[in-house]
Amino acid sequence: MPKIKFTIITLFREAIEPYLNSSMMWKAREKGIVEFDFVNLRDFGLGPHKSVDDTPYGGGDGMLLRCEPVFAAIESVKTENSKVILPTPVGKTWDQALAKEFSMKPGHYIILCPHYEGYDERILSLVDYKISLGHYVLTGGELPALIIIDSITRLLPGVLGGETSAEIESFSDGNNLEYPQYTKPADFRGMKVPDVLLSGNHGLIAKWREEHSGAA
Ligand code: ADE
Repeated sequence: MPKIKFTIITLFREAIEPYLNSSMMWKAREKGIVEFDFVNLRDFGLGPHKSVDDTPYGGGDGMLLRCEPVFAAIESVKTENSKVILPTPVGKTWDQALAKEFSMKPGHYIILCPHYEGYDERILSLVDYKISLGHYVLTGGELPALIIIDSITRLLPGVLGGETSAEIESFSDGNNLEYPQYTKPADFRGMKVPDVLLSGNHGLIAKWREEHSGAA
């Protein structure tokens, strides 16, 4: 039984799927820790052209996602345990603390990826979380959906091999950023690894790392 199921409602599945089929997201799914599922919003479009958007009442530029296809798409997958996430530049800013909060609340998350210039305000009546990735505007919700999924999934127990949950924990508030790290060789083109890291003195190494946290 997966710990978290993500259902992504999008017009552009092909933009999202390769990432979820790669690397850690693929591994997490193989291990049964997460499940990914897609709904094609176009399947719920109106008329012969399967239209999903229309012009705004009151005038103005651009097209807005219509209620009917979005409500039908969400209702086709929603259960009483589902929560709906809407990526939008006017949402709550996504950060590590929020990612952690979601990772500790297993269940079914439906991510609605808006496109075009916006959406009919009444769509918000179905939304549990409005999430912004930052103060910039993207062309759609697909990239935010991937970032939200990735940052939650990597925190689920069993996804990151080798790292203890305590280690993940120590960076999880987002303020305690990682210290600089080095691997072999100890001297690369004259750029040397700090002596203390080669010293074998764990006390001094811990002190150095603490002093250099967030300095990268
Ligand atoms: N959709 C467009 N821009 C966005 C942003 N910055 N965050 C979340 N969703 C968005």
